[in-house]
Amino acid sequence: MKKVITYGTFDVLHYGHIRLLKRAKELGDYLIVALSTDEFNALKGKKSFYPYEIRKELLKSIKYVDQIIPEENWEQKITDVKKYGIDVFVIGSDWQGKFDFLKEFCEVVYLERTDGISSTKVRNEIQQSLDGTKHETI
Ligand code: CTP
Repeated sequence: MKKVITYGTFDVLHYGHIRLLKRAKELGDYLIVALSTDEFNALKGKKSFYPYEIRKELLKSIKYVDQIIPEENWEQKITDVKKYGIDVFVIGSDWQGKFDFLKEFCEVVYLERTDGISSTKVRNEIQQSLDGTKHETI
């Protein structure tokens, strides 16, 4: 069985995420999503709208996703690849080249991001529609 892993926050799940997950699953037979915890996001200076358990619940309902594990730090990737017997590490092209060090342990694939959508954009657009003001989105 070919195992694939991807990492991310997947806040306010949107079609850019779904397309990424669909293509990730097509690279193998079993897809693991390492989902950033709220604590790790805080470390990165990010705050999601939905807390970890809700993001996990939403992701679990996606047919492409077979397993979800917590992403708690920057250093765990090599350990995860070995521990879960990963064949392919996949992530969006916004991370192009950043995880090439994993090539020693598995295949590394960067998938083209979907244009015009991000969690930040969704959150900002909801906020705009609530307060009627304009914010910079992407
Ligand atoms: N992704 C994608 N296309 C998009 C948005 C995200 O392919 N339009 C991919 C990212 O490249 C990553 C995964 O989805 O591999 C999870 O991304 P995440 O950072 O959680 O979502 P973003 O929408 O990029 O969130 P943010 O606004 O915080 O950057």
